[in-house]
Amino acid sequence: MRIGVPREIFPGEKRVATVPDVVTKLVKLGFEVDVEQGAGALADLSDESYVEAGAAIAPSAAALWSGSDIVFKVRAPTPDEVALMHEGQTLIGFLWPAQNPDLMQQLAAKKVTALSIDALPRTLSRAQKMDALTSMAGVSGYRAVVESANAFGRFFNGQITAAGKVPPAKVFIAGAGVAGLAAIGAAASLGAIVRANDTRAEVADQVVSLGGEFVKVDYEEEGSGGGGYAKVMSEGFQAAQREMYAQQAKECDIIITTALIPGKPAPKLITAAMVQSMKPGSVIVDMAAEQGGNCELTEPGQAVVKHGVTIVGYTDLASRMARQSSTLYGTNLFRLTEELCKTKDGVINVNMQDDAIRGLTVIKDGEITWPAPPLVVAPKPAPKPTTAVAEKKSGHGHGSSGPMPVKTLAMVFGLGALVFWAMGAYAPAAFLGHFTVFVLACFIGYMVVWNVTPALHTPLMSVTNAISSIIVIGALVQILPPEAGTNGRADQLIQWLAFAGIVLTAINMFGGFAVTRRMLDMFRK
Ligand code: NAI
Repeated sequence: MRIGVPREIFPGEKRVATVPDVVTKLVKLGFEVDVEQGAGALADLSDESYVEAGAAIAPSAAALWSGSDIVFKVRAPTPDEVALMHEGQTLIGFLWPAQNPDLMQQLAAKKVTALSIDALPRTLSRAQKMDALTSMAGVSGYRAVVESANAFGRFFNGQITAAGKVPPAKVFIAGAGVAGLAAIGAAASLGAIVRANDTRAEVADQVVSLGGEFVKVDYEEEGSGGGGYAKVMSEGFQAAQREMYAQQAKECDIIITTALIPGKPAPKLITAAMVQSMKPGSVIVDMAAEQGGNCELTEPGQAVVKHGVTIVGYTDLASRMARQSSTLYGTNLFRLTEELCKTKDGVINVNMQDDAIRGLTVIKDGEITWPAPPLVVAPKPAPKPTTAVAEKKSGHGHGSSGPMPVKTLAMVFGLGALVFWAMGAYAPAAFLGHFTVFVLACFIGYMVVWNVTPALHTPLMSVTNAISSIIVIGALVQILPPEAGTNGRADQLIQWLAFAGIVLTAINMFGGFAVTRRMLDMFRK
C-alpha cells in the first residue's frame, strides 16, 4: 500500500507527519511512501533527505491525496483536503472527534476509515509506544520552560560572582501531568527552584523525583477523575487552592500552567489579582491557552505584558520544536503502522477486536465508530479483611501480611530458646563467639536496610558492594615478600594471585563508590 504524507497547511504549523528515518522503516515494512514537495521544509527536512530514505516526492497536494491508500497527517484535514480524499482511504492524525463533529460527518460521507491518534486508550501499557499526546506534551513542557527563560531577564540558577550574588529563579508549575513533569525536569536542570501542584496527589512522588517540591493544597479531597486524568474540584478545594496559588504568585518569578480536565474548559487558576501581585519582570506561560487558559489574562496565541508580567499564551509550543516533535510523532505513527500491519507485507488491517486499534478508530469504512466502548478493566482484587489487631499495627508496612497470632509467636520464641540452649550446652566456646557476632550482624544489617527508603535501596546495594572490598586486606597480607627458606615458586604464585586479587577488588571498591555517588547525585538538587 502507498502511504502519503502531505504538507501541513494549518497557519503556523511546522511539523510533518513523518521523517526520513521513519520512511526507511516504513519501506522495510513493505509500504511505498509519497511525501508532498516541501512537506518537511519547516522542520528542516529537505525533499532530498526523504528521497534518500526511499520516499517519492509528490509535486502537489492533489497528486499526493489521490495517489495514497493511507494518509499520515498532524492536524485534522480542512474541508478542501477532505474533498481530495477517496473511498477506501485511511486517514491517521489528530482529528479530535469530540471537538470536530462536522469533520466526522464529512469523512463519513467520503466512506473513508479514520484513526484519531488522540483517541488512543493511553492507559493500555501496550499503547504507550503510539501515544502521540504524551510525546507532544513532553516537547511542549520543555519548550514552555525555554519560552519562559527567553522572556525572563535573569539566570535560572543561583550564582556567586565577583559582581555579586544572584539568587536562583523560583518556578511554580500548576498541573504535573506529562507536560508539567517535562517542565519540572527542564526547569530543575537549568538550576531553578521548582515547585509544583496538582489536584491528583499521586503525582507528588514524580514531582520530587524530577527535582521539584510538591506544594499541597490545605484541603483534603481526591482529585483523580479516572484514567490518570483530573476532575472538577469542589468549591471548598478551589478556594483553598486559590489561597495557596496567590501565595506562590507573590513568591515565584515564573509560573507555568498546564492544568486540563478532559472535555471541560481549562480551570482558571491564576486570577488577574495574582498577576498583579507578581514581581515586575515575572513570566507566566499558559500551556492551557487553547482550552481557554489557566490564567484570566492570557491571550491565546500571543505573548502580552500585563501589570509588568509577560504572559505567554502560545498554542503551538510543539510546532516550535518542529524537527524534534516530527521525529517523535513520526515514530508514534510508525509503531501504530506496525500494529496495523502485523504481517509486514505493506498491507494494513484495522482490527476492531484489538483494544488499542478499536479505541482510535473513529470511522470505519464510512461508519462513525466513535466513541469506542469503555475498556474492560480487570476488576481489582477485593481488599483483604483487616482484623482489629492489624489496625493497631504500627511500623512501616514493607509488605508484611499482618502480625502473627500470640500462640504461634510464643511457639517460635520457645523453639528459638531451645535451639540456643542446646548450642550453649554442646557447641565449642569459639563457635559461640562467632555465632553471636553473626546474629548481631544479621540484626543490624536487617535494621539498616529496613529503615532506608526503598528508592535508596539500589545505591545502598552498590555502597555495600564497595564496602565488601574490605577483603582486599587478605590479598595485601599475601603480597608481602616471601620469608627466607620458604618455597619461592609457590610464594611467587601466591603473590601474583594476591596482586590479581588487589586489582579486581580495587575495581569493585572504586567502581562501587563511583556508582553510588552517581546514583545519589540523582536525588540531590
Ligand atoms: P492533562 O493534560 O489532561 O492534565 C494536565 C494535568 O493538570 C493533570 O496532571 C491534571 O491532574 C492537572 N490538573 C487538572 N486540573 C487541575 C487543577 N485544578 N489544579 C491543578 N492541577 C490540575 O493530562 P496529561 O498530562 O495528558 O495526563 C495526565 C496523566 O495521565 C499523566 O500524568 C499520567 O499519570 C496519565 N497518563 C497515563 C498514561 C499511561 O498509563 N500509559 C499515558 C499518559 C498519561
